[in-house]
Amino acid sequence: MKQIAVFASGNGSNFAAIHAATINKVIDAEVALLICDNPDAYAIHRAAEFGIECFAFKPKMFASKVDYETEIVARLNQLDPDLIVLAGYMRILGHTMLDAFGGRIINIHPSLLPDFKGKDAIGQAIASKAPRIGVSIHYVDEGMDTGTIIAQSGFAVDGSESRAEIECRVHEIEHQLYPQTIAMLLEKETSV
Ligand code: GRF
Repeated sequence: MKQIAVFASGNGSNFAAIHAATINKVIDAEVALLICDNPDAYAIHRAAEFGIECFAFKPKMFASKVDYETEIVARLNQLDPDLIVLAGYMRILGHTMLDAFGGRIINIHPSLLPDFKGKDAIGQAIASKAPRIGVSIHYVDEGMDTGTIIAQSGFAVDGSESRAEIECRVHEIEHQLYPQTIAMLLEKETSV
């Protein structure tokens, strides 16, 4: 059975959608580990409910990013995951993680990249009156939301929509597109 590790920092609705897709066999793999950099995150409760192992940590308890990423790499090496999935993980990965797993790490970002990288992408798109809003899934490199794009999906807006409506549509897209893309990547890996 293939294995996925998910990284999250907050609510974890994408984590839940990915887990559901493994149960429904949309994704032919299991989510074997949640890594969470915020011990108060709701995602941790979800992991307990799903029976998924969780490593929760506070970056401040470590001397440096290298130190906490070394600990993460050690835990990931116990699994040897086929794919590492960042789902609302609010940190840039450092070279420790990228050296160990580069090319096997993907991220989801709530904008049509290369537009609106970084924090509050939906707010940035609304403020700049973008005609389309959407979601991108991309490989992770050392930049912020800069890696090769794997999949995108969006919708037209005309300025009449509330932010809440837009966020709701973005999440709907994310919860479909991320599981589909993960399934596609894992299948591709099998057929090579
Ligand atoms: C998502 O909108 C994702 O695109 C962004 O962070 C959010 C995480 O939401 N990177 P959740 O924790 O999966 O509910």
